[in-house]
Amino acid sequence: MKLDEIIRGRRSVRAYEDRPVPEEVVRELIDLGIHAPSASRMQPWSFVVIEDKELMREWSDRAKEQLLGQMEQIPYLKQYQALMENKEFNIFYGAPCLVLIYGNTVSPSHVNDCTLAAQNIMLAAYEKGLGSCWVGFAMQTGNAPELKQKLGVPEKYRLVAPLLLGYPRGEWPYVPRNEPIIFSWQK
Ligand SMILES: Cc1cc2nc3c(=O)[nH]c(=O)nc-3n(C[C@H](O)[C@H](O)[C@H](O)COP(=O)(O)O)c2cc1C
Repeated sequence: MKLDEIIRGRRSVRAYEDRPVPEEVVRELIDLGIHAPSASRMQPWSFVVIEDKELMREWSDRAKEQLLGQMEQIPYLKQYQALMENKEFNIFYGAPCLVLIYGNTVSPSHVNDCTLAAQNIMLAAYEKGLGSCWVGFAMQTGNAPELKQKLGVPEKYRLVAPLLLGYPRGEWPYVPRNEPIIFSWQK
């Protein structure tokens, strides 16, 4: 696949086959992730890989509860109320693998750098026939001190990118893009 086909073809995948992603593939994707640029060459990323579906389900339940509790303070979340109230809904969509990119807050650019690593991983995953999805719903819970401790994540690291990986179930529709706004083009 050519790079422009990969960029245009990647989709957020929200249903996965019940088969694991081979460990060597996950490792290769992480290796491709760390080839992203980073400010001052600081490479502030570190990773956690979760294949334990029960842990993901518990995390999902907690995240849904937290998000429901915030609907009043954060009106933006209201659009997700019915989803969060749905007992069957799992924010991780039953994916076999969750890769968490934690950024070292010592680097002022850790969010940018980890996000670039995340995009590398999502694009490379697509090229290898895998689906991926960034799960923003997992952010808050992923930064909870007790979960970080359980996952072996040092205090000074913050979760930047929770990424699902797995073999896609079904076709995922293209989300149309708005025309890019170019404020000006100075020549
Ligand atoms: C920062 C961020 C957070 C996201 N959080 C979620 C999420 O919690 N759940 C979800 O299903 N998709 C999530 N997405 C995926 C977006 O909904 C998706 O990228 C968008 O609809 C465009 O679709 P595409 O990725 O297929 O092009 C997130 C994407 C980004 C970049």
